Amino acid sequence: MKAVVTSSAKFLPESVLSNLDLEKILDTSDEWIQTRTGIRERRILKDPEKATAYLCTEVARQILDKRGISAGEIDLIIVATMSPDMLFPSTACLVQDNIKAVNAWAFDLSGACSGFLYALNTGAQFIATGTHKKVLVIGGEKMSALMDYSDRTTCVLFGDGAAGVLLEPGEDDSHGMLDARLYSDGSGRDNLCMPGGGSLRPTNHETVDRKLHYLQQDGRQVFKSAVVGMAEVADEIMQRNNLTAEDIDYLIPHQANNRIIQATAERMGLNLEKVAVNIDRYGNTSAATIPICIAELDEQGKLQSGSNLILVSFGAGYTWGGVYLKWL
Ligand code: COA
Repeated sequence: MKAVVTSSAKFLPESVLSNLDLEKILDTSDEWIQTRTGIRERRILKDPEKATAYLCTEVARQILDKRGISAGEIDLIIVATMSPDMLFPSTACLVQDNIKAVNAWAFDLSGACSGFLYALNTGAQFIATGTHKKVLVIGGEKMSALMDYSDRTTCVLFGDGAAGVLLEPGEDDSHGMLDARLYSDGSGRDNLCMPGGGSLRPTNHETVDRKLHYLQQDGRQVFKSAVVGMAEVADEIMQRNNLTAEDIDYLIPHQANNRIIQATAERMGLNLEKVAVNIDRYGNTSAATIPICIAELDEQGKLQSGSNLILVSFGAGYTWGGVYLKWL
């Protein structure tokens, strides 16, 4: 039994942090950020009392409303995030309680920017086995909580947001999650990480003084690996499923850098009209980028029954992968 997406939703905090705002606090420029990344602005969740669980809860509520079902019908909630409210309990458990999904079990999945694709494929397995009927898969991030706003090499890149989908069994095997190829290579660990706050370097005065509680990235190294990883997995998904560029309705890539997105589209032979892009408005929202794109296309009525979607991502770990999803 294939898992199909029966509903989608997104939630972005209202507060906008533009490149021009960043120019005022950093040695950077709107021109540099737009040329190197494609980002114009990003959203920031300013309320210190709210975090990733809040963003994901708003998404879950919308999905339930749109699908016209009650929270009690949900069997499983998976939240893909690298910015959980706390190390434990999981953000998924907080969402489960917030919406009172009393019959659901819930867990977080740590796959960084590939988290949503990992979670989507994981959720689809529970549908495929026939043991679960309704699985909420959400990607949510409060990346602003991980940023050092005095480090221009990272803080200009990321933003906050959440989005997700509801997975249910399809009527036949012709639609839904048709293929997935997921990869990991932990040798990339030092190029993109948050070194402090885990069991290796628990938070203490020293870790804070050394700013180890902030995201650190060797942008150049990650860029090189991301270009290759995303393009290769997109190519692999096309070949495995005998898809040509004409067969594909939308490429939905992770939104880390417009240049990486364009290189992936080029490798697939796709023109840019078929590529979902929102990095200009939201920056890199990590695990939320792909479902935000899906929710936007869905809201705009661009997804028809049978639309062929290729989802590809690359992130910390390294983690990367591709999914072939045929819209219900
Ligand atoms: N404003 C102005 N200048 C900046 C800057 C900023 N915000 N950030 C960096 N620079 C400077 C650097 O200090 C460097 O200066 P130098 O040459 O004097 O040392 C110069 O710009 C070029 O830096 P570099 O890191 O080579 O730029 P880049 O073209 O590689 O772009 C990234 C940087 C981060 C945008 C890019 O590497 C990238 O997108 N990396 C991949 C991100 C990714 O895919 N992550 C995976 C998923 S999260």
